Amino acid sequence: MKQIEISDFGGPEQLQVREAAEPAVGPGEVLVRVAFAGLNPLDHKLRDGSSGKASHLTMPAVLGRELSGTVIGAAEDVDLEALAMPVGTAVFGMRAMDDWRGTYSEVVAIPAGCLAPVRALPTGVPDTAAVPDADALAPWGGLALAGLTALIAVRDCARVSRGDTVLIHGGAGGVGQMLIPLAREAGAAQIWATGRAENAARIRELGAEAIAYDEQDWEVVLDEATAGRGADVILDTHYFATFAPSLEHLADGGRIVVLPTLADLSPAKDRGIEAHIPQLEVSRERLDHLAAGLESGAIDVEIAQILPMDQIADGHRILESGHSRGKLLLDLRGENPQAPGKRAARSEA
Ligand SMILES: NC(=O)c1ccc[n+]([C@@H]2O[C@H](COP(=O)([O-])OP(=O)(O)OC[C@H]3O[C@@H](n4cnc5c(N)ncnc54)[C@H](OP(=O)(O)O)[C@@H]3O)[C@@H](O)[C@H]2O)c1
Repeated sequence: MKQIEISDFGGPEQLQVREAAEPAVGPGEVLVRVAFAGLNPLDHKLRDGSSGKASHLTMPAVLGRELSGTVIGAAEDVDLEALAMPVGTAVFGMRAMDDWRGTYSEVVAIPAGCLAPVRALPTGVPDTAAVPDADALAPWGGLALAGLTALIAVRDCARVSRGDTVLIHGGAGGVGQMLIPLAREAGAAQIWATGRAENAARIRELGAEAIAYDEQDWEVVLDEATAGRGADVILDTHYFATFAPSLEHLADGGRIVVLPTLADLSPAKDRGIEAHIPQLEVSRERLDHLAAGLESGAIDVEIAQILPMDQIADGHRILESGHSRGKLLLDLRGENPQAPGKRAARSEA
């Protein structure tokens, strides 16, 4: 099989496609033939060594946290039937934050608890025939990491509840596009989301009022919209230019959630403002919640681009721009004759 490795920290040119032996499953693990791996900003921060988590990598390292694919085996102690994931089931999921084996790989071994079937299965009976075309797995490859982050940010950190007003910075990004529907689902009365003017239509489509931060002063717009009261919750996917001014626009008792893990929350905490950085934890309950959302259409994973393995460096350059819209995906089906429905990469799914 093939995988994408880095041999050292550095620029996108470090990412090289290499042959590797198929991984062996450890206890509790499932073997998955990967169809798509989602790209996330953490990937380029690990690649260049700037992430605080980069010290966990052993070279050569495989990057990537999330995936969609098909179950092809499991360790003896895993009851795939009981998990509703028998061999052949289309699944999605992500590596836990203490598992640094990556997902830019044609085959991965991953703990069963980090996976879920791509369908919400009320009866627990998998319908593997429901995904006849492997292209349909594309959005699932970009669902787990951003979706779990958004779910934890909205439900556990900000505790968005009925009637809350919510401001989201970066509403059309990988996580932002899931924050809007999940805040709506949690009962938010009104949601504003910032983004560049070219992303305003997408933000409206997702269900928020768009504030084009490159054309309007978001602070003025929010003040006018809330009569100076501010928002109950601010979900800040950007942080750098937005965190400090956001503290001036929280209603009394408001909560702010900032995504970048190296963010300094002390300016908020010093003022007694509740502030959080979501800590990712994978659970089947959360994955099933996201699966149900994607299946019902409540969650919509916009795909910016699907890249073949040999264009992974371009994907990292786009990620590093900080202005991705939706998700970038890596197509790992390669020339694998077992990959059903293999087709040329396309720009929209
Ligand atoms: N804590 C965690 O567990 C966790 C999990 C996932 C992600 N993260 C972090 O969260 C951040 C966002 O991740 P992502 O996957 O959503 O990234 P992304 O897909 O690259 O999206 C970045 C977003 O930031 C917006 N943006 C850039 N400059 C802005 C500004 N000045 N004001 C408002 N918005 C601005 C962009 O919108 P425009 O293009 O419209 O400017 C874009 O929507 C990254 O730093 C990532 O590492 C943390």
